[in-house]
This record gives sequence, structure tokens and C-alpha cells, in this order.
Amino acid sequence: VAAAMAAERGLSMVTCTAPVNIAVIKYWGKRDTDLILPINSSLSVTLHQDQLKTTTTAAASRDFTEDRLWLNGKEADVGHPRVQACLREVRRLARKRRGGGEDAAALSLSYKIHIASENNFPTAAGLASSAAGYACLVLALARLYGLEEELSEVARRGSGSACRSMFGGFVQWQRGERPDGTDSLALQVAPETHWPELRVLVLVVSGEKKPVGSTAGMQTSVETSPLLKHRAEVVVPERLAQMMQHIQDRDFEGFGQLAMRDSNQFHATCLDTFPPIFYLTDVSRHIIALAHRYNAHHGHTKVAYTFDAGPNAVIFALADTVAEFVEVVRRSFPPATNGDQFVRGLPVGSAALSQELLAAVVTEPLPGAVQYILHTKPGPGPQLVDDPSQHLLGADGLP
Ligand code: DP6
Repeated sequence: VAAAMAAERGLSMVTCTAPVNIAVIKYWGKRDTDLILPINSSLSVTLHQDQLKTTTTAAASRDFTEDRLWLNGKEADVGHPRVQACLREVRRLARKRRGGGEDAAALSLSYKIHIASENNFPTAAGLASSAAGYACLVLALARLYGLEEELSEVARRGSGSACRSMFGGFVQWQRGERPDGTDSLALQVAPETHWPELRVLVLVVSGEKKPVGSTAGMQTSVETSPLLKHRAEVVVPERLAQMMQHIQDRDFEGFGQLAMRDSNQFHATCLDTFPPIFYLTDVSRHIIALAHRYNAHHGHTKVAYTFDAGPNAVIFALADTVAEFVEVVRRSFPPATNGDQFVRGLPVGSAALSQELLAAVVTEPLPGAVQYILHTKPGPGPQLVDDPSQHLLGADGLP
């Protein structure tokens, strides 16, 4: 009945969800800032939407008088250039599809759009939400217009890393060669089912301050860092091929080593930027040292860290390592309060740590330095939500 009423009022509505992704070969630097074309290819793991996702509803109606946008319940600026770029590109695809002719059944391109978007995780946690946000926006808009085309090229216009959130599992963003960006696309390397034992722990660090944003930071790096130039031209092409092989082979040793080295090189290019940019904090460095002590104790790579443009650590491990490493983190960064909710997401078993492990790995504990740990795993790509009760906009087109 609601749908029929909505149709009568010329209201169409679509809801989608999209995942966060974490790069293991990092994107840092653009060769075209307007089209968002990178100086190097990158590779990421899509995280599971049960723990981290954006939900977006897009609606169109002849009754809407202007395009409007709500983020986490609050009205936001729909005129933001990157939101506008995504809207324009989706509408352009829709127009092209119809070949100029007006299809009576198709949604009118002259209707204004209402968009509402929210995350199932606190934005304050400092977990990159723009990738999931733009991926979700583009998919919701595309489905609203009935488009089935390749959409990573459009998502890229919102945020570079967003193009990788258009697929699940292991995803490559090809740098591409063309100046118009038509070959700068995301491709799935392997689905999330390819490596069922792989787990992800997000260590949310306390007291985060807002650092330099990635967009501004990477531009300064492109302009000033000779190391970044070398990285893009020489290092990344070799590493990308190696990383694809490690994933293909489910070789955690190779995967983990290379992920850590690539994160470290990314942060080295930040230090090589002038003036330098610092995303890692003392707590980040403690986590890095802890991971290396833990691996050294076991004599091989059991955990691998990676850090983006902020101090939170993302740790990769195999399922059989999670309980022990989480206990190591709990001992190293004892929770400030009662420790309730210190571990969130997928369940984590209990583990008893041997005296040797404790002595070798847990050196000087830093109480309260890690706020909480989110346990998740690789997951699928964006989804269309069928259940109309999940829409973030009501029949009146408002949140
Ligand atoms: C460090 O995709 O946020 O997370 O394209 O300017 O929106 P823009 O930048 P963004 O940069 C992400 C940088 C990174 C590495 C990565 O995700 O590959």
C-alpha cells in the first residue's frame, strides 16, 4: 500500500549498504586532482558490513524542490563538489543509457533527489568512512535510475579509495593510463570466501586529534616528496604483483610482511613530505613494536599491522591467532574503565598467556592507550536492501 501511494506521488526510493576497505598496498598521491586519478595502483581488503558499513537511501520525487542530503541524521551540504561530481556522473550515465529519448517508465532526470546516509559505527572512532560513504551514495543513485553499469569509476570521483569499496574480498584499483580516467577502475582480485581464516582487528587508539586530511596531505606529498615519486614508479608496481601472488597462495607470511612494509613506506613518504605529516602517534609505534615482538617470539609472521591517515592500527591475523593476540593487546594496553566492551564485533575466545610469552612480548603496559578492539573479517561488496522498512527516508521523503 505504501509503495502504491508512493508511486502515485511520483516517489521512488532505493536503499543500499556499502563496506569500508583497508589498503595493503596504499594509494597516496594523485596525478589528476579533479578526476581523482592516482599516481599508483593500490590493493585493499574489503571489511565485513556486519561490523562496519554505511547505509544510504536515495529518493526522487516530482514534489522535491531541491536536492538535499542528510548525514547521520543531520542535514549536510549537498553542494559539496565531490557529492556533486557523483550526482552529475550518475545522471550523465542515465541520460546516455536512454539515448536522449524519454522513457515513460524511467525515473525523470528532472526530479530532485533526497539522500540520507548513516554509519553503523561512530564517525568519532576515526575509521575511514568516506570510502564506504561514496561507494554507497553512488550505488544508491545508480539503482534509483536503474543503472547496471560499472560504477567504480563514478565512486572514484567521490573519494579515490571509495572505488575499492564497490567490491567485496580483495580489490585492486588499477592506476590506468588514460588522461580521462576511463581505465582507472577497481577490480576484484579474489572474493571474500577465498581466504576464510583471515581476520581483522581494528585497534582504536584513544584521544585522537584531527590530523591533516588525506586529500590535502597527499597533494603536498606529490609536490615535495622524492621518496613518493620513487615509490609510485618503482616500488609499488613490484609490490602489487607480489601481493596478488601472496593473496592467491593464501600466504600469510608474505601477505603480512608486505602489508607492514607498505604501511611503513607510506608513513615514510609522509615524513619525507615537506613540511612533514605525522599520522602515527606514540601509541601507534607501541603497537608496531608489540607486533614485531610477538612475531619474533613465535618465529614467524602471526600478525601484520597497517595504518592509514590516522593513528588507529588495523591488524591482520589468521583466526587461530586472534584470541592470544587480543589478550596480548589487553595486557599491553589495559582498558581504562572496567574493560567492558573492550572487544567488539565478532566473538573472541579466551586465551591464557604463558610466562615466556608475557616476558618476551608485554613490556611496559600503557593503560587506556587503546580504547577498544573491533574484531571483523573480509566481507562482501555493496548490497541492495530489499526490505522497505530499512529506508532512511519516510514516505514524505524526509528522515
Ligand atoms: C591512506 O581516498 O581518502 O587511506 O581520494 O583524496 O578522497 P581522496 O583520498 P582517500 O585516501 C586514502 C588514503 C589512505 C590509503 C588508501 O586507502 O589506499
